[in-house]
Amino acid sequence: MSIDSRPPTDPASTLDVRFRAAIHAVSSLDADPQIRPSTNPAFGDYQANAAMSLAKVTKGNPRELANALAACVDLTGIAEPAVIAGPGFLNIRLESAFIVAMLSAMDNATLGIEPTKETHAAVVDLCGVNVAKQMHVGHLRATIIGDTIARVFERLGRKVWRENHLGDWGLPIAMTLAALRRSHVDLDQLSLTHLNDAYRRAQLEGRHDDAGLAAARATDAGPHRLFELLAQEESAGEAIKDAKSTLLRLQGGDTEVVAAWQKIIDCTMREVYDSTSTLNAKVTAEHNRGESFFRDRLAPVVDAFLQAGFAKEDKGAIIVPFADRERPLLIRKSDGGFLYATTDLAALRFRTHDLDGSRVIYVVDARQRDHFKDVFDAAALIGWDRTKDGNKSEITHLGFGTVLGKDKRPLKTRSGENFTLKDLLDEAMERGVAEVTRRAEDPHAPTHGMPTADLTRIGRAVGIAAIKYADLSNDLTKDYVFDLDRMVAFEGDTGPYLQYAHARIANILAKSKDSASEIAATPHAVAEPAERALALHLLRYPQMVQDVARTLETNRIGAYLRTLAECFNAFYQSCPVLKSEDTTLRRARLRLCALARHVLQDGLSLYGIDAPERM
Ligand code: ARG
Repeated sequence: MSIDSRPPTDPASTLDVRFRAAIHAVSSLDADPQIRPSTNPAFGDYQANAAMSLAKVTKGNPRELANALAACVDLTGIAEPAVIAGPGFLNIRLESAFIVAMLSAMDNATLGIEPTKETHAAVVDLCGVNVAKQMHVGHLRATIIGDTIARVFERLGRKVWRENHLGDWGLPIAMTLAALRRSHVDLDQLSLTHLNDAYRRAQLEGRHDDAGLAAARATDAGPHRLFELLAQEESAGEAIKDAKSTLLRLQGGDTEVVAAWQKIIDCTMREVYDSTSTLNAKVTAEHNRGESFFRDRLAPVVDAFLQAGFAKEDKGAIIVPFADRERPLLIRKSDGGFLYATTDLAALRFRTHDLDGSRVIYVVDARQRDHFKDVFDAAALIGWDRTKDGNKSEITHLGFGTVLGKDKRPLKTRSGENFTLKDLLDEAMERGVAEVTRRAEDPHAPTHGMPTADLTRIGRAVGIAAIKYADLSNDLTKDYVFDLDRMVAFEGDTGPYLQYAHARIANILAKSKDSASEIAATPHAVAEPAERALALHLLRYPQMVQDVARTLETNRIGAYLRTLAECFNAFYQSCPVLKSEDTTLRRARLRLCALARHVLQDGLSLYGIDAPERM
């Protein structure tokens, strides 16, 4: 549970306080007044729904209780007297002056978002690429969802650690290193294509149990599981033997092997950072804490579990058994090697204890669900799910769904390869540039006559927004179909639609002859229903951001912004702004435009989406 209270500029917060007091006066209970936005603006702006559930507790009549609450609640300066409806709902219509006061209280750099009181950090495991492998669409999700979650916590003023748990240690890397050495590739001329080839060759050379590997692939057990499986084969082939001896040299700190290892990491990361920067996701070298970071902490993990009596030997291996299931967690193989899970246990302890994370979120493919369940449960057994000061941390695997092609199968190229992330981004940006360039041909378009370089910049931002919005505005746990045609459209439920809504408002503001200070000095206008609806939606912004931090549902941001754009369109259709003769009214409406633009831009920034001024 969050320790933060409701945002002070949200009318629901004030109503909550006032109705809570009334409930206490009437029933001496401390109960949630259940303040909700009204489902029908004709009845009011908010409703208080507590009477029904309260009546069950007090064994009273809900309508009588509602009556008593309406008579008792102090709404002076906030709302008109509450009106009873149905079995005991209370409809509340806010006073305009109160809405205006709340709007002006949020109309500054904070947008009504108060810094969190939480002093412990949030840790977000994101990106998680594997060295020597190109990023594919799965890494797109791990990167941008993680980045958005991190941005939301940062927006609330919380300390955030972005942890890129690179696959940079162990047998997979050793196999690649060994394969590169066998094919005499000059490591100073290394490209990711070389690396990919070597990685794939290493996989093929090590293969001798086709059925086992096919099964591992089919379940998408991940590269680590795949290699673990390979390594466990008794009749490990020459390639594996070579890899194992390379691994020993790497682990032993052999200068030559370590230098080669560093080179393949650098090569991989150059391309990763290229993509993260294109994606406007804050994942850079400072966030890199890969598996290799934990290499000296693996043996102590096993010792700690053995000493605490939570692990035992099983045919030479060390396992952690669970009371509620047959499947144990393997933390040391019979050959002495450690596993993906051992590293994750070390990393989890580091995150809760050393990084002081009271909220740890793993943004990793949903197919790793069992892995994380085992790791989290094992950590809880031994008490590694606590911060330095002993607070229990909330640890979550935010497992995301798969990106599908139009054929509803995992997105692959025609030859069956994974689409590389770079290819996807390039294509999206190309489409965005084409769309923006085409629109600029219209002599009435605000972009008409802009230099090509500017159109290209805007077009690229549109392409990236298309991909990011389509991904982040879905239910994260579900698979979704990657359809670039739909994503880059300026109409419908798309990122470019929201960017366009923002640019339209920016355009109105740019045309205004009233100065920014004249506008800011005029109180907001909320007399018209469309103004009022827009104002009420704007006031919900801070609560929406808090809700995303609590639920990790990034799609709430997209839904909120879409409604904001709709409220704005309705307002702009029924309320003349620039053409309004009355100076005060014009400025008041311009101020509403400015606030709507600010919130749109701030909301898009949580997705890491640029909001160009002209489109
Ligand atoms: N490198 C891993 C993979 O591609 C993902 C890492 C996720 N993070 C973690 N702490 N296990 O499967």
